[in-house]
Amino acid sequence: MSDTSGPDAADTADTAGTTGTPGLTGENFGAYQSKLYLNGLGGQLPPFTTDFTALEDSVRERLEPGPFRYVAGSAGSGATARANRAAFDAWRLVPRMLRDATVRDLRTTVLGTDMPAPVLLAPIGVQSIIHPDGELATARAAAALGVPTVLSTASSHTIEDVAAASGDGPRWYQLYWPNDDEVCVSILNRAKAAGFTTLVVTLDTWTLAWRPHDLDLSYLPFVRGVGTAIPFSDPAFLAGLEKSPEEDLISAVLRWVPMFTGTDRSWDRLPFLRDHWDGPIVLKGIQHPDDARRAAAAGMDGIVVSNHGGRQVDGAVASLEMLPEIAAAVGDRTEVLFDSGVRTGSDVLKALALGAKAVLLGRPYAYGLAHGGEDGVRHVLSGLLADLDLTLGLSGHRSPAELSPESLRRA
Ligand SMILES: Cc1cc2nc3c(=O)[nH]c(=O)nc-3n(C[C@H](O)[C@H](O)[C@H](O)COP(=O)(O)O)c2cc1C
Repeated sequence: MSDTSGPDAADTADTAGTTGTPGLTGENFGAYQSKLYLNGLGGQLPPFTTDFTALEDSVRERLEPGPFRYVAGSAGSGATARANRAAFDAWRLVPRMLRDATVRDLRTTVLGTDMPAPVLLAPIGVQSIIHPDGELATARAAAALGVPTVLSTASSHTIEDVAAASGDGPRWYQLYWPNDDEVCVSILNRAKAAGFTTLVVTLDTWTLAWRPHDLDLSYLPFVRGVGTAIPFSDPAFLAGLEKSPEEDLISAVLRWVPMFTGTDRSWDRLPFLRDHWDGPIVLKGIQHPDDARRAAAAGMDGIVVSNHGGRQVDGAVASLEMLPEIAAAVGDRTEVLFDSGVRTGSDVLKALALGAKAVLLGRPYAYGLAHGGEDGVRHVLSGLLADLDLTLGLSGHRSPAELSPESLRRA
């Protein structure tokens, strides 16, 4: 991955554009920067801002108020989401010089999934409220870059259609754990058959938090039958209905919503998932080192240190704040992934330095989807990976493995 300010810049940049297929081997992410500058010579500006901390504002007028607030909003007062960002700002990278960081390699492997960089797309439900192509566009953009996508149970497209859109791309499946075992097993079987390799079980959203931004508009996609494509195409779920969702939407919604929300679980239920999923299992939403230890002791293959982007517990600790303690507790026994608040390349580096093996990107790609469907997601992902690559090199590192807490100082 060489920097591209030299004479070969144009050639390199051509392979890293919004419509090319960069990065499948973890190379040339930084070249996306050159591509954007060279496009400027022909009068072409980036499709939308390259400042991914400004994406929320950039889509405010593009989306209807309900969808915008659903995506951008957080629980309660928004304190947890603000804390997530503040926690990143509280750490600073300490750049090192003359370390031969011209050629870099961002590739990594997590739970058997090879990825060109330590970045996955977080599960985001109901993407059709953002763009009609929703999860299909996201899957195509991720696959084009070789980045794994994590499909939400609250998808607005079916498991099988998203798998087809993802093609040869790596894909994981996120479970909102239905309280009907038959439906649960049926969904797991479909995900396995469709090539989703790792199961991500989200623990922090067993019921919805108090979300004033949605309540004030009385806007919840599921009760309108949006984000229900997976159950509404599931034979076990449909078998329990007297009429199809097309004939009687309300009855189908009233059967599904209490099935996937409202029931908390306990640790002793995890073997059920192990019995019905033969790949790796990752628990998402871990915030306490004791819960991380319990996950490792239960044989879970990974955890995502996440507070759901501040959308669940208001006034909670920043996800990044808990990462070092959790990584120290279980990092040698289970894969530690991270999300909540990642917006820039340096944010990714900080999370990796504090013990994450990879991070999940959340809202930024949803805003890319709002701007331009598949191309919009690709612009965000290409830009984030370019920023990550350049910042890794400029801070004196050749690979994510070289990062450690020593790479950082408290602000
Ligand atoms: C609109 C929206 C929908 C989401 N849907 C899901 C979901 O269906 N399943 C899930 O596990 N997490 C879901 N999340 C949480 C993300 O996976 C991730 O944890 C979060 O977005 C990270 O925070 P960030 O967006 O601030 O980076 C959703 C987040 C947003 C913004």
